[in-house]
Amino acid sequence: MQNTSLLKELELYIDNFKYEDKKISIELSKNLDKDVFIYGSTPYDTAKKLITSISKKPKRFVVVGSSIGWVNFYWNDMYPDIPTIGLDLHSFRVEYGNKLKDKYNLKNIELVVEDLYNFEFREGDMIWMSNLCFEHDSVEDIMSDIIHTHSDISMISYRPIRCMGFREKVKMFKLQVSWTEKQPFFVYENL
Ligand SMILES: C[S@@+](CC[C@H](N)C(=O)[O-])C[C@H]1O[C@@H](n2cnc3c(N)ncnc32)[C@H](O)[C@@H]1O
Repeated sequence: MQNTSLLKELELYIDNFKYEDKKISIELSKNLDKDVFIYGSTPYDTAKKLITSISKKPKRFVVVGSSIGWVNFYWNDMYPDIPTIGLDLHSFRVEYGNKLKDKYNLKNIELVVEDLYNFEFREGDMIWMSNLCFEHDSVEDIMSDIIHTHSDISMISYRPIRCMGFREKVKMFKLQVSWTEKQPFFVYENL
């Protein structure tokens, strides 16, 4: 990532704000399983390999479970002219990301408190699904629904993409993340 001071601030988040992060995670866990709010990060090189494995440039890059905006900031570093939006339920992480966005005066990035299940995806979206900690059946259902109802979307997922009739359009990669050297990733593109 070219903006190394921004990267440093992303890396410092959990060291500097462990207490505040946990407080919100506990509050949110009253309604949802606490594992849904586990914190993890995906390095720039991993994200870049996955994003560049997709041949068609999107109209918008959507990150689901964007946390503090890691992958949105990587995207903006690579493609500052293509807008990106990140959604996450964790308000403290979203606020932190927004402070960084303002501090570095970055355009074309939106980070919002929003639930995956209420979000409207559009034709032309490239969707990054940080879905490893999400409830298994419902996230598989919504991924399948998005793929079946949109002809012009691509998707990068930590969980297998098992949509009936679309499996031959899915590629698999094993790449480094903060919790393991070889995290499987699944990339769907409707060529
Ligand atoms: C494991 S973190 C993502 C970590 C990081 N983005 C990465 O690349 O590895 C998953 C995030 O998803 C968020 N999340 C969980 N359920 C969600 C939902 N239904 N809609 C939006 N975000 C959600 C959590 O708050 C958490 O910050």
